[in-house]
Amino acid sequence: MKNVIIVGSKGLIGKALVKGLSKNFRIIEIDLVNFKTKNYFKCNILDEKEVKSVLNKIFKKYKKIDCIINSAYPKKNNFSKKFLEPSMTDFNDNLSINVGSLYCLIKYIYPHFKKNKKGNIINIASIYGAIQPKFEIYEKTSIKPPTVYGPIKSAQIMLLNYFSKIFAFRKQDIRCNTISPGGVFGGQSKQFVNNYKKYCKSKGMISPSDLVGIANFLVSDESKFITGQDIQADDGFSL
Ligand SMILES: NC(=O)c1ccc[n+]([C@@H]2O[C@H](COP(=O)([O-])OP(=O)(O)OC[C@H]3O[C@@H](n4cnc5c(N)ncnc54)[C@H](O)[C@@H]3O)[C@@H](O)[C@H]2O)c1
Repeated sequence: MKNVIIVGSKGLIGKALVKGLSKNFRIIEIDLVNFKTKNYFKCNILDEKEVKSVLNKIFKKYKKIDCIINSAYPKKNNFSKKFLEPSMTDFNDNLSINVGSLYCLIKYIYPHFKKNKKGNIINIASIYGAIQPKFEIYEKTSIKPPTVYGPIKSAQIMLLNYFSKIFAFRKQDIRCNTISPGGVFGGQSKQFVNNYKKYCKSKGMISPSDLVGIANFLVSDESKFITGQDIQADDGFSL
């Protein structure tokens, strides 16, 4: 059975991935919150020493890790500020924690994958890493797309693309892909959901569990030749 680490396992999408993927794989959870269950490890992924130490603990306990999925979503001060409201410090902080923590996870999982001669890295990005927001859907709602969000997501997609390329160049069997959801329903207002749906083919905002099939596929050997890809799941919103 494959051992799969899910980072951000207690979040909206993380929880759905844990539930859905645990049917086929042994799931090892990492998140910031306090929890005492089997296969759960508390770790602040913004702390490099903690990341190194918790991954080492996991390698010791489970011997072989097949895949890591990052679904964490760290936020610092004023993350939600829009247009030109964020200060440069707020902008930089939020950009750096989201891109830097992904880098840090890769940095410390890599020696393990290298030793095993196999690995698989998946990051939950967003369609907003590839397209601009449709600003009209936010009008008269309390949701505002943060200025820093697109830069975070496009950088995450590019970072995994970079690693997929360098691993392929080095003939290392370590795959890197991103899953880019469109809007995922998590209690947004009816007005927002309706605005969103106008741009989609059927459902509109997807459910967290709608991402399980793609994740299952990317973790499994069915996708063994797929690397460097960004797979969008948005019911046609970005078209
Ligand atoms: N929810 C959406 O509509 C949506 C749409 C597209 C993409 N995404 C992306 O999916 C990913 C997950 O989103 P979500 O909605 O599940 O977010 P969420 O806020 O519900 O969950 C994020 C999880 O990350 C954990 N986390 C935050 N900071 C951490 C840290 N420093 N160390 C360890 N864990 C930390 C939180 O505790 C939480 O459990 C994000 O990258 C987000 O951009 C979300």
